[in-house]
Amino acid sequence: MFPTHRPRRLRTHPQLRRMVRETVLTASDLIYPLFAVPGESIANEVKSMPGVYQLSIDKIVEEAKEVYDLGIPAIILFGIPEDKDIDATGAWHDCGIVQKATTAVKQAVPDLIVVTDTCLCEYTSHGHCGYLQTGDLTGRVLNDPTLELLKKTAISQAQAGADIIAPSGMMDGFVQAIRAGLDEAGFENIPIMSYAAKYASAYYGPFRDAADSTPQFGDRRTYQMDPANSREALKEIELDIIEGADMLMVKPALAYMDIIWQVKQASNLPVAAYNVSGEYSMVKAAALNGWIDEQRVVMETLIGFKRAGADMILTYHAKEAAKWL
Ligand code: PBG
Ligand code: ZN
Repeated sequence: MFPTHRPRRLRTHPQLRRMVRETVLTASDLIYPLFAVPGESIANEVKSMPGVYQLSIDKIVEEAKEVYDLGIPAIILFGIPEDKDIDATGAWHDCGIVQKATTAVKQAVPDLIVVTDTCLCEYTSHGHCGYLQTGDLTGRVLNDPTLELLKKTAISQAQAGADIIAPSGMMDGFVQAIRAGLDEAGFENIPIMSYAAKYASAYYGPFRDAADSTPQFGDRRTYQMDPANSREALKEIELDIIEGADMLMVKPALAYMDIIWQVKQASNLPVAAYNVSGEYSMVKAAALNGWIDEQRVVMETLIGFKRAGADMILTYHAKEAAKWL
């Protein structure tokens, strides 16, 4: 008799397929990104991200309630400030847009976890993730002076009520600096989700429209990682673990499934995958053209991240996915 082995036997019935399924996706795995802008009753759709909006704080609060009701445990907040300057004042000021949004959300939906992205690019006049040497037109961010600003930003976010601090600037020593700052300020119980392996990626394009954070000159290649490297990702995560990270993130996700897998194998910490803006927009564009089955493509992609080892997924599809589950 040929063939001896018939793997198809276990695929004959939906219930049987359910029984042998190795990976599950639930709403608990999802984190939904939101963009806060000053003003009231504002909902500006981001041109390159259909279905994603810059929202004023009143609208952020409405959205937070909806997210919570869908069973999604957390949001991550980004801010578009009124003014930008070289000190990124809007990032660390008590009355910064993310600080105000955080407080408002925690007051309205106390059980929703608020993650705050801790970076400076949305708040600097030049759009880089830290201080530049005067006259620098290449974007070589000054590492150590930038750590001071990141520390201040993290503390002010924690003071505003943030549950998790997520530094994304890829500065050397940023986890250690932020951990020390949080501890000194009495926030020793606030965890750090480090964007540990973050690549210099063209997939961030639509996000930069949403967050108004495109660098005015130069690029981020002197701080974000080279897409060609994987051993370097392991070095980055090792350092972040030593520095006190509580969770690790890999970003982007789709072109970096191998990195998610390796990070998962190399550490005992929860791993998050950031399904970034460009990944979202590609799917949306194809779906709006009627070229793909959006629901199936999204769910297949999300289960792929879980199979690769992600414990959590930051995704602009979170609300839709939670509805489809
Ligand atoms: C800020 C930051 C970026 C993203 C998250 N935090 C953009 C960047 O590094 O330029 C990208 C998220 C996305 O594309 O969805 N440092
Ligand atoms: Zn940044």
